[in-house]
Formats: sequence, structure tokens, C-alpha cells
Amino acid sequence: QSLILLYGGRSAEREVSVLSAESVMFAVNYDKFVVKTFFITQTGEFVKTQVFTEMPAQGTKLMTNATIVAADIVSPASIYETGAVVFPVLHGPMGEDGSIQGFLEVLKMPYVGPNITSASVTMDKIMAKHVFESVGVPQVPYVALTDLAELDAKIAAVTETLTYPVFVKPANMGSSVGISKVASESDLRSAIEAALKFDSRILIEQGLDAREIEVAVLGNSDVMTTLPGEVVKDVAFYDYNAKYIDNQITMAIPASIPEETVVAMRKYAEIAYRAVAGMGLSRCDFFMTADQQIYLNEINAIPGFTQFSMYPLLWENMGLAYSDLIEKLVALALE
Ligand code: ADP
Ligand code: DAL
Ligand code: MG
Repeated sequence: QSLILLYGGRSAEREVSVLSAESVMFAVNYDKFVVKTFFITQTGEFVKTQVFTEMPAQGTKLMTNATIVAADIVSPASIYETGAVVFPVLHGPMGEDGSIQGFLEVLKMPYVGPNITSASVTMDKIMAKHVFESVGVPQVPYVALTDLAELDAKIAAVTETLTYPVFVKPANMGSSVGISKVASESDLRSAIEAALKFDSRILIEQGLDAREIEVAVLGNSDVMTTLPGEVVKDVAFYDYNAKYIDNQITMAIPASIPEETVVAMRKYAEIAYRAVAGMGLSRCDFFMTADQQIYLNEINAIPGFTQFSMYPLLWENMGLAYSDLIEKLVALALE
């Protein structure tokens, strides 16, 4: 059976996607699958890259900007192959937001991960808040800026509603891109401008001094959750550099937190996943304060997927190895 990996992509998270896809390519069971890969460039072109019929040699890299051949640009629909399964190993807008999923639906190809609804709702942090609210999942207080008319009045309202520091985020992004922590009203406008580079919808959230605890979810109608893991950081905020460049984080799996908090988090993770029509997989990211209040921060419908990423490690801790996880995801795609 062909497993088609889509990687790269148009979003600011394209480099993370390449790392995730390379990890997948080294973990596939080549007795069962032939892996065909397509790189999506920053401008959205599809490039036919490597085909693997057996485990690639150690150190093999997927082709990216530096190594692709312009002549190998293909029409997106040419990924079609009867009986193949697609794994869009893509993060962020145009990969994790329903657009690729809609394209694959039109092609009638089975694919790993969220469907159009779950991808688009979870990618938009404002939309996701509304859905989580509707099912009673606790979240931090926030203000949504969906248009910028009378911005001065809106900024004043933020100061009235929330206490500083606040976090300013583009509604549609990931890996902390475009996010700022703002200590006072005087810095709010420039943070909004920074977020506007990525989206016209902006979310402003109450900042918390909290631990970051994550639960992995797997399944379609039968939903399974893991014990939580903690992102242990010695940085003020888990920004792109801390996540991918400086390696300033470690993971504690399982997280050392009270049993009742574990139970509550797993319950909220499942409720939230079902509420956004989750399919395949998701990582539910929570905050936990010193007095053990928990808040759902966000759901990532295609979480970082290298073999050293939180999502696969959470499953490994539950006894599901990385390559078995990939097979399970393919099986879920075919359900
Ligand atoms: P992304 O989708 O880019 O991962 P997040 O909403 O998870 O965006 O924010 C990125 C990081 O910023 C979080 O992992 C956390 O370190 C910090 N952060 C975000 N919101 C808050 C908040 N309300 N209080 C404290 N820290 C926050
Ligand atoms: N958006 C990144 C890939 C994550 O949440 O893991
Ligand atoms: Mg996050």
C-alpha cells in the first residue's frame, strides 16, 4: 500500500513539518508500505520528491527548498493514487486548517488526522474558544478582536477586562509564531500589529503563571487519551526558539501532578476533542496553576510529530511505540 507523505507547506511552521515527516519516514513498516513523498513549497507548489520502498539509509533527508528540482513541480491532483493513504504531516495554516483536508476529500483519498471541521475549528483559536466554552471546558479569560474598528476603545476594554501580563496571538498560527507577552497597555498596540502579520483575527488572553501539561488523544468515535506530560521550561514563555532552536525545554512524562488533576484533564481533553469533531489525533494543551486550577489552552490537531515530540512520547509511555502509532493512525484514516 502507498503511504503518501505531504510535508513542508505554506505556513510559518514548514520547518517543523519537515522534521516531523522525516521521523515518520524512518518509522514506517516497509513490509507494509511504500512511502511516496511530496514537498509543498512556501508558495504552495507541489513537488514530487523521494519514493522509499525500503527503510532509507540513516541520515537521509527529505528534499526541501535547497534540493528540489523545479522540473518536478506537479499538479496537486497528481498525488492521486487508487488505494493510497495520505499523511499530511503539515502544521499551521494551509495544512492543519481544513484546506488540505478539503482537497483530499475532493480527491476521495483517505487521510490521517483531522477532517475539515476539526482542523478548521482547532486552527482558529477564537472559534475553538467558543466551542470549548459551549461544552464547559475551563479556559483563561480572553478578548477576541475580530475587526480593528475603534481600536483605541478595544484596547481600553482589554485593560479593563484582563490583568497584565496578557498574551496576544494571531487566531490562526502555531509554534508560538506571532505571539507576544505584553506587560502593560502601552505595549499592546505593537503586539497586536505583530500578530496582524499572520492573521486579521487576534486573540488577547489573560496571562497565567502556570505549568504546561499536555494530553494526547487518539481515535475517531472511540477516543483514547494518555496520561499527561509536562513541558518543563526555564523560559518565561514557550516561544519558537525555545521550542525548536535552543532546546530550552524538557519533557516530564508522565507529569508529576495530583491524580484528580490527571483525571480531570483527561476528561476535558476527551470532551474538547469530541466537541471539535476530532478525528485521528490531537494534542490537548493545558495550563495548571499553583493552586491546581486547570485551563485548556488549545488543541493541536496535527501536533509536532517527530519521534522526540510530546505527542508520540505520550503514547510511548502508554505502551504504543512510534511505528505502531503510525499504523494505528493509518488504520483510523481507513475507518
Ligand atoms: P501556539 O498555537 O503557537 O502553540 P499557544 O497558545 O500554545 O500558541 O501559545 C504559545 C505559548 O505561549 C504557550 O505554550 C505558553 O508558553 C505561552 N502562553 C500562551 N498563552 C498563555 C497564557 N494565557 N498564559 C501564560 N502563557 C501563555
Ligand atoms: N504546532 C506545533 C507543531 C505543535 O503544536 O506541536
Ligand atoms: Mg501551543
